[in-house]
Amino acid sequence: MQSSRQLLSRRVFIVGGSITKFVGKGSPDFIDKKHPDFGKKQNTTIEEYITLATNEALKNTNVDPDLVDRIAIGNFAGELFTNQGHMGAAVIGANKKLLNKPSMRVEGACASGALAVQVAYDAIRSGADVALAVGAEVQTTVSPRIGGDYLARASHYARQRSIDDFTFPCLFAKRMKGILEREHFTMEDTARVAVKAYANGNLNPLAHMHNARVSLDHASTVSDKNPNFLNNEIYKPFLRITDCSQVTDGGAAMILVSEDGLKKINASKDSIVEIKGLSCATGNLYEDAEDPTQMTTSRVAAVRAQEAAGIKASEFQVAEVHDCFTIAELLMYEALGIAPYGGAKDLIRAGATNLDGKIPVNTGGGLISFGHPVGATGIKQFLEVYRQMKGQCGGYQLKNIPTFGATLNMGGDDKTAVSAVLQNL
Ligand code: ACO
Repeated sequence: MQSSRQLLSRRVFIVGGSITKFVGKGSPDFIDKKHPDFGKKQNTTIEEYITLATNEALKNTNVDPDLVDRIAIGNFAGELFTNQGHMGAAVIGANKKLLNKPSMRVEGACASGALAVQVAYDAIRSGADVALAVGAEVQTTVSPRIGGDYLARASHYARQRSIDDFTFPCLFAKRMKGILEREHFTMEDTARVAVKAYANGNLNPLAHMHNARVSLDHASTVSDKNPNFLNNEIYKPFLRITDCSQVTDGGAAMILVSEDGLKKINASKDSIVEIKGLSCATGNLYEDAEDPTQMTTSRVAAVRAQEAAGIKASEFQVAEVHDCFTIAELLMYEALGIAPYGGAKDLIRAGATNLDGKIPVNTGGGLISFGHPVGATGIKQFLEVYRQMKGQCGGYQLKNIPTFGATLNMGGDDKTAVSAVLQNL
């Protein structure tokens, strides 16, 4: 029997997983009134995304479901968008061989996916050998305006809901107003983030906005095609549609194993990435950020993960950060430490976070173009870094295979944050 100290120092590895196509308005796979299959076929359901992601992850990693010791699923608002809760049992429904495994749902708003990874990671550190982390969300069952109300449950609903019909877009427009007042970065800088996201998504066939092209002129000019769509007159000027992540359906799943687990599943040497550090930090739901230019909770999670890993942000060669809005991506550069405070604008202006830059960020298009099926996002972030490390990214594969990378997933307005440091072995 291992002592508790030995268990806590157990190494945790990712051996692969799967990401479904991310689908929503603007993607050719999304069945709306204009689609030739309208009335004949339905959009993929939450149950189907969970089943697809789970079984593809098991298949891609050659893991016998019998070997899975623990399952966690991230989902934010299944009850509202799809009338379905109890997602732990839905994963069991994906595969007969998973019957009676311990399977549970975790929720931390848009960080729900990374929280599922946290549960799987903790399970491995405390004795499990094989763990499955799943994430899924379906949001296109209602209009974006109604969805805005559902998503507002990730804010302090009683206090913040009324800021705008689109609560979260407005909370970030509010941050942007403060950011401009402090001259931290500009609306042109946020437009550059959108251009990078869409350009990367154009190379990624799984991306929701794979077919959408966005130039700097389009992203930086307010127009009929790119309106300031908020109703709140104070904050309306600080957010355009191209600054926003998508309302997306999709799923993702990932297999984590211990050193013993590597042997049990007979993992190929080429499939292994180690989680060198993982940390979750949680802010106070009832308080607003004192300084709109800082993501303090995300910063704590990132610093802790880097300290646990013994790896500095300057060593990362790839990163996935939470770009629910262009504004958030720039703040995340500073929270993660790939830019000093005030330095995010220099990174984006220099193209340093482009695919051919010094530190490519959100290489598959991020939440803005790859899409943001809330519960799946955090797991997709891990898998994007993993896929870059294993040369699996096709048209957007980085030329230099990264050794060190990071993820930073955020729920609410910097309220739940999960950051990880990954090493390619
Ligand atoms: N001129 C003026 N207003 C316009 C125009 C125009 N040309 N076009 C649209 N609008 C307004 C309308 O009021 C419209 O709402 P309505 O149709 O209900 O009246 C609104 O803008 C949105 O337009 P849609 O056509 O619904 O836009 P779309 O479907 O492309 O959605 C949107 C865009 C609203 C930005 C959506 O993608 C969205 O809500 N994204 C954010 C999702 C989100 O908040 N996720 C959570 C993030 S928080 C986190 O991760 C921590």
